[in-house]
Amino acid sequence: MTEALWTEVDHYINRMLVPDDAALNAAIESSNAAGLPPINVTPSQGKLLHILARLQGARHILEIGTLGGYSTIWLARALPEGGRLVTIEADPRHADVARKNILRAGLDLLVDLRLGLGLDVLAELAAGGGAFDLTFIDADKQNIPEYFKFALKLARRGSLIIVDNVVRDGRVIDSKSHDPDIVGIRRFNEMLAAEPRVSATAIQTVGAKGYDGFAIALVTEDI
Ligand code: SAH
Ligand code: DHB
Ligand code: MG
Repeated sequence: MTEALWTEVDHYINRMLVPDDAALNAAIESSNAAGLPPINVTPSQGKLLHILARLQGARHILEIGTLGGYSTIWLARALPEGGRLVTIEADPRHADVARKNILRAGLDLLVDLRLGLGLDVLAELAAGGGAFDLTFIDADKQNIPEYFKFALKLARRGSLIIVDNVVRDGRVIDSKSHDPDIVGIRRFNEMLAAEPRVSATAIQTVGAKGYDGFAIALVTEDI
């Protein structure tokens, strides 16, 4: 089993089940043209996020790590009328590209893009109160434990918290790693395991983005 085969199967799934879409394609093309790293979720992963948000009946969605807005578009399209998505991005170049992509997708009235460091913007959001029905954590990996703490603070019983990139080619099991990303992911997993207010799992993924995984936590208690 090779990565080339995973990628082919991913393309097959996308062709079969995740039809092309002008706004999503433009989001990828403009991100590439602007030199953004190609680290957005894949089409099938984007659609998974969309389905989970619909399943959740999410009216308020929080995303940490916007990049060019590709996952933002998938998630925002799951919102009902009057819904809202807050997405946080630290890099002004990424935020500029994302803003245009969100506008082109006709989602600018639903999406509130906050330019700033994740931890700073989250502290502001936490001070303001209110709960998110779904949070997607997909920014820098060393801060995942802190992002998860804020995601919990900003949740209610029934909220869903999804974390991208929790496997990293299997390096997650390297307990001796000093890579800050791996240390962050491992600390997050320990936090998740010890957190009585959530029911959580993680799923390994292979495909066009290589070998990685998602963690999913359902908040089962009052926060
Ligand atoms: N969710 C996007 C991909 C996000 S890539 C998608 O699937 O389409 C990660 C993003 O997080 C990058 O744009 C990066 O600039 C941003 N980022 C990195 N560190 C950050 C921080 N401390 N605060 C906010 N955003 C950060
Ligand atoms: C990286 C970040 C991501 O969010 C991702 O999905 C893949 C790679 C990275 O920083 O390398
Ligand atoms: Mg990611």
